[in-house]
Amino acid sequence: MLAAVACAKPQPQEFHVIPMPESVTLLDGVFPVAGADIECAEEFDALSAKAVARFADALAAATGVKPSGKGLITFEKDDEMAPEEYSITIDPDGVAVFAAGLNGVIYACETLKQMLPAAIYGGKPAKADWVLPCCNIVDRPRFGYRGMHLDACRHFWTIDETKKYLDVMAAYKLNRFHWHLTEDQGWRAEIKAYPRLTEVGAWRNGTMIGKDWSSNDGIRYGGFYTQEEMKEVVEYAAERGITVIPEVDLPGHMVAALASYPELGCTGGPYEVWTKWGVSSQILCAGNEKVYTFLEGVLSEIMDIFPSEYIHIGGDECFNEDEGIPWDHCPKCAAKMRELRIKKGPEAKHQLQTYVMNRVQKFLTEHGRMVIGWDEILQGDLAEGTTIMSWRGVDGGIAAAERGHDAVMTPNSFLYFDYYQSKDQDNEPLAIGGYLPLEKVYSYEPFDGIKSGAENHIIGVQANLWTEYIATPEHLEYMLLPRMCALSEVQWCKAGSKDWDRFSASLGHTFEILDAMGMNYRQ
Ligand code: ACM
Ligand code: ZN
Repeated sequence: MLAAVACAKPQPQEFHVIPMPESVTLLDGVFPVAGADIECAEEFDALSAKAVARFADALAAATGVKPSGKGLITFEKDDEMAPEEYSITIDPDGVAVFAAGLNGVIYACETLKQMLPAAIYGGKPAKADWVLPCCNIVDRPRFGYRGMHLDACRHFWTIDETKKYLDVMAAYKLNRFHWHLTEDQGWRAEIKAYPRLTEVGAWRNGTMIGKDWSSNDGIRYGGFYTQEEMKEVVEYAAERGITVIPEVDLPGHMVAALASYPELGCTGGPYEVWTKWGVSSQILCAGNEKVYTFLEGVLSEIMDIFPSEYIHIGGDECFNEDEGIPWDHCPKCAAKMRELRIKKGPEAKHQLQTYVMNRVQKFLTEHGRMVIGWDEILQGDLAEGTTIMSWRGVDGGIAAAERGHDAVMTPNSFLYFDYYQSKDQDNEPLAIGGYLPLEKVYSYEPFDGIKSGAENHIIGVQANLWTEYIATPEHLEYMLLPRMCALSEVQWCKAGSKDWDRFSASLGHTFEILDAMGMNYRQ
């Protein structure tokens, strides 16, 4: 018996946890988990206890054995640890986990689950080798902000689909869900003071077919989330250590709002919820006080729903030069520019956008929130404390950090999951373009190009999943996975500690996990 157990010592290459923990020491022996008691120290908060209970339920369901004193798994509180840190010690009699709080507890559970047979994710009794290898693990993340974005506007995802997205994020230790809720093609968040946003703005009269810009499938499309549903998502995410950051994209990407309330535009419309992709020329009027009343009303309700430290206010792709800038022909905008002493010229529109962004930023900071915006807003005089999301490559994030602003790196060149995963586009589902294979995602180093001393302004890394060409949850998951697993090591693993060979050797186990979770993915 003892000899057999000793032989079960796993080799390092058999340790298939993603993201790889900071320190793993494998020891002789195993701990059989079926029937183990699971104890969570009373000092932990209710959500931590609930996370441990979820782990216990998963274990009982998958092993088919209820806790019956066959060994012990304990969760102890260690207030000296960093907020997301945890340690795990496994010996033949049991498991001891230490963590300071919820995220550490969750990540210990996720690491333990990945060390077990993938059937632990299946929720039903499965015949498998239900043992954990004896080991010592100490682990904590490199970045505090580990995000994944979802465009719920170009295509709409149900609450259940959104929760499944959060499930797989939690499994790979991501902790920020950037929820893109407003767009030209659909407004998705119920706002009680402005009911037409969802009566009118949540629905479009058809969608362009494939990449045929002159087409329309003629199928009315839309949907929205009630405030109760959004709160349910916030709570579900919080239980999994994830903060939901809502985005209200302004002053561009607002056609659905303009269709709902045409007086918010420079011309008064009429406007239609957009049926095509791309950058619309139609934007909020910057000279009309009603627009600021509208934005403050919307953001007040958004703040009530979302307790996140950050609110994302967009700021990207405000101007479509080819189709003209409505601000150039609007008396109200002209008066506002005179009031602000903005000089005529090519920079004028950027200065006016800066005014809009900074005014909204001031409103949100007065309400105790911090603001994130896309890197276009660096073009103006950015209010102190604004965080930049660098999407047009890495330059915006680098410039922001060097100007003393925090930045989240989401460069399209490495982290836009709507790009193709293969050069053989004919055998891939339709994508927006680009070429972003798994290995390129994995290769991303967030400090590349950053001057020494500015690194501490890079607060994290996120991938974005825009859904113009993604209409089904199966396709969504295919674009997400396994690239999000590669992202998780970029976010979690210390600089220089990633290892592509080790990561790729773990993909077989990753695919078993994704199968057990019922996720679609690219092989
Ligand atoms: C973006 O991709 N327009 C932020
Ligand atoms: Zn105007």
